[in-house]
Amino acid sequence: MRGLLWFPLLVAAVPRVFAQLPVEKIYGVNLGSWLVLEPWMLPQAWTNMGGQICSDCTQCIECEFDFAMAYPDTVDEIFADHWDNWFTQSDLQDLKNAGINTLRIPLGYWIVEALVERPEENYPRGGLEYLRRGLGWIRDAGMHAILDHHALPGVQTPGQMFTGRCTDDVQFYTPHNYHRALVWTAVMTTLSHLDPQFSNVFAIEAVNEPIMDAAQTPGYGDFQKNFVKTIRAIETLLGIRVPIYNPNLPGSLPTTNFTAALQQACSLSLFDADVVDALQDAIPILIGIGSQYGLSGTLTSEPFNSRRSPLVTSFMDVNWQYDNPPNPANAAIGPQGYDNHLYYSFGGVAAADPTAYMQSICNLQRIQNDAALGDSPLWFGEWGLSTQFVATDSFLKQWGDAQKWAYSQSAGWIYWNFKTEVSDLTNGTELARQWSYLEALSMGLLTQNPASYYDDNVCQPYINKTSSKSRSVPAAVLDAPVLNRSVPNNLPSPKLSAHGRRFMKKHHSF
Ligand SMILES: *[C@@H]1O[C@H](CO)[C@@H](O)[C@H](O)[C@H]1NC(C)=O
Ligand SMILES: *[C@@H]1O[C@H](CO)[C@@H](O)[C@H](O)[C@H]1NC(C)=O
Ligand SMILES: *[C@@H]1O[C@H](CO)[C@@H](O)[C@H](O)[C@H]1NC(C)=O
Ligand SMILES: *[C@@H]1O[C@H](CO)[C@@H](O)[C@H](O)[C@H]1NC(C)=O
Repeated sequence: MRGLLWFPLLVAAVPRVFAQLPVEKIYGVNLGSWLVLEPWMLPQAWTNMGGQICSDCTQCIECEFDFAMAYPDTVDEIFADHWDNWFTQSDLQDLKNAGINTLRIPLGYWIVEALVERPEENYPRGGLEYLRRGLGWIRDAGMHAILDHHALPGVQTPGQMFTGRCTDDVQFYTPHNYHRALVWTAVMTTLSHLDPQFSNVFAIEAVNEPIMDAAQTPGYGDFQKNFVKTIRAIETLLGIRVPIYNPNLPGSLPTTNFTAALQQACSLSLFDADVVDALQDAIPILIGIGSQYGLSGTLTSEPFNSRRSPLVTSFMDVNWQYDNPPNPANAAIGPQGYDNHLYYSFGGVAAADPTAYMQSICNLQRIQNDAALGDSPLWFGEWGLSTQFVATDSFLKQWGDAQKWAYSQSAGWIYWNFKTEVSDLTNGTELARQWSYLEALSMGLLTQNPASYYDDNVCQPYINKTSSKSRSVPAAVLDAPVLNRSVPNNLPSPKLSAHGRRFMKKHHSF
């Protein structure tokens, strides 16, 4: 009986927190432009599909939404071809051979098709099948996956291809769209634990790159808390416990039909109202996915009793935002990790010259600054070799070494991107040289082994005396109380943070 399982946990010592991450150090790449297509990364393929390239993506067909609106009858078929070809098992093998252990997978809310409010919204259908296939490859290769909610319902930041819809009408920060994002979270959490294809998913990231000015993201702090509670509610029903989270469950919940267990938990209001609302709406979606993908047994009839660890909940770090941002550390219940993105090429980080880049990266304080606010472990979930100046190969080798060295002081790094197109529209390998991990490897700009360097002492000449003492994070810093901050470690302009639009503006002559 389930009740007998719960009871001892209420009184006994809570189990030790599991090792948070499945690897000692994250050496990862993003599977960008796969399930959320950013045309700037594959302009020729996008043009061939029927899309357009322009300097302001709100003004032409340069995102998935506008494409699906323009080609409602053929969009699914055209995208199926893209999903089939952009990321293949052979790509994964190349990454495995190169020592990559983690894949961050950018996803749109529309991968849960029932969340798309047609006909006002339109996106390609069928991505879940390809996600499941790819996750199966990742599992079989012994690699690990982060599901990254990259493109949110209502759009989380203006004028960016990576949100799936290039628009200045940002509607994510509203109750209705927070709700849809929680339903997405409930569905992805359930699949992560019950669909065998998902078994190497270890983390779900709530929101990729929200607007940096926290004054423009009302309710985001509450959403962070609800995101974690939604994941933990589902895990609790599956018998996966984390310390300090012990909702008072009756002993009579179903144990052989997960959607029935969800239904009963909702009718008994076992969780907070926002969480219950999300679980309630996830039930018919899970039943639909169950019948569509041959998972009815797992989701709606077989006994469920997951052997898995709790997922790592993940957020962009508090210093991603400024203007009194909510701190995601305050939302943590169980294992949680933080994500920071760093691109020098958009300006505002360091002067546009090699020495300034090296001085900046070799004295990076972001890990310490985040840890002081409780945002630890941190990883660098996006970075690359791009620069604001024409860089020589020998500089790019230093630049890759130095970034890897700096980010390795944290939980690790995830390169953007695993690949980009090589075509006339990208000036041959010019784009891939600074944005594609596989291309940089083959050009010899990054070492074959992600844990090694061309020069182990690459940062030595640049480390400032005063900051070198704080290279490693002292325990006292990790234990420091959470302080308020108003100074961002990023640029105070959301437009400057993003790669696609800026890249195309700068390079539209390609
Ligand atoms: C499992 O529960 C769902 C939701 O209550 C219900 O629709 C479905 O018929 C149940 N499945 C079985 C096999 O009883
Ligand atoms: C490091 O020192 C150089 C030279 O004094 C200075 O220009 C730079 O701003 C310093 N960088 C950091 C991150 O402290
Ligand atoms: C294209 O790339 C070459 C090097 O491969 C470079 O010399 C040239 O300036 C680039 N052209 C443009 C338009 O950026
Ligand atoms: C921190 O911010 C909170 C919420 O804005 C505020 O209530 C509190 O007074 C601040 N604390 C300090 C030390 O500034």
